[in-house]
Amino acid sequence: MKKSILRVATFIILANSILYISCKKKKTNEKLYEDSKSSELSFYKGKDTIYDAKGGSPHGNFKLKFNSTAVASLGSDGKLPVGGNFNEGSLIVKEVYSGNELTLYAIMKKDSKSKFASNKWVWAEYKPNGDVVYNVSKDGKSCTSCHSSGTTRDFTRSFDLH
Ligand code: HEC
Repeated sequence: MKKSILRVATFIILANSILYISCKKKKTNEKLYEDSKSSELSFYKGKDTIYDAKGGSPHGNFKLKFNSTAVASLGSDGKLPVGGNFNEGSLIVKEVYSGNELTLYAIMKKDSKSKFASNKWVWAEYKPNGDVVYNVSKDGKSCTSCHSSGTTRDFTRSFDLH
């Protein structure tokens, strides 16, 4: 009798923790996607421009946007100073374009305490309709190789290229 109660209890605890982790993942993705669409974001150097892909970028042509926390980290030239770091809470949204059509959001969020953070950043990609292309739960494993090689600006690449 006692044993079966224990078994049921173990099952409930296990099921709940699995549910908790997958909920957290879903929530993080949904919030990041919503934040990336926000009209409050500011354009790189204040210009609504599509930049050409450079530096062996896999992303394609793009617009670049920042939340106000990220903007506060930038110098007067609109770039993160060499050796500088983005403030906690910074959001960088790269809108990828095919011609004039938005095809992807590639995102870096400075959230060092997140369980999904790698090098203090959370990494993700979403389609314009919110479908997850690169899940936060992958811990940026496909992103950080390029984003840590030769970068002196807190794992970002654009400021040296544009
Ligand atoms: C093959 C190398 C490579 C990989 C892999 C890569 N990136 Fe990038 N990324 C770049 C380069 C280069 C730039 C600058 C592109 C440019 O200026 O044209 C960039 C720019 C960005 C930016 C704009 C901020 C910045 O760094 O300047 C974001 C956001 C971004 N990438 C997110 C991601 C995410 C998320 C992943 C993983 C899903 C990823 N990247 C994987 C090379 C890469």
